[in-house]
Amino acid sequence: MPHALPIDDARSLLEAAREAMSHSHAVWSQFPVGAALRCADGTIFTGCNVESPSLLQGACAERVALLKALSEGQREFTHIAIVAEKRPAISPCGLCRQMLYEFAPDLIVIVENQDGEPIQEVLAAFLPEPFVAP
Ligand code: THU
Repeated sequence: MPHALPIDDARSLLEAAREAMSHSHAVWSQFPVGAALRCADGTIFTGCNVESPSLLQGACAERVALLKALSEGQREFTHIAIVAEKRPAISPCGLCRQMLYEFAPDLIVIVENQDGEPIQEVLAAFLPEPFVAP
C-alpha cells in the first residue's frame, strides 16, 4: 500500500508535472495540464494534455503519463502529481479516475494548494464507487 511521499519528493513530482505541462498542446481549451506518474520502482513517467484539431479526440495529461508507463512495461504505480496552469488543486476527470483506478487502486494523487505546496489524497477519495470490470 503506497504511503504519502515525503514533502521533498512530493515537490519534485509536482515539478516534473510542471515541466511536462510546458509541452501541453491545449490549443482549444487553453487549459494546460501536466502529470507525473511514479512507478513502484521509482521511475517517473510524465504526460501533458494533447488536443486534436477536431476536438473529438485528445487525451488528458494523466492518461498520457499512464499509457507511456504501461507501454514501457510498467504495471505498478504509487503516486501521480497533477498540475494545471490556471487552477490549483486540479481534480482529475472521471475517465482518468477510472483508468488510474483500474491499474492502481491504491494510487495517491498529489496536487498543489494555492501556495504551490503538495496536497496528497488517495485516489479512492476521488472515486468512491468505482466500476470494477467483471
Ligand atoms: N485535462 C487534463 O489533462 N487533466 C484533467 O485532470 C482535467 C482536464 C485536460 C483535457 C483538456 O485538454 C483540457 O484539460 C480542458 O478540459
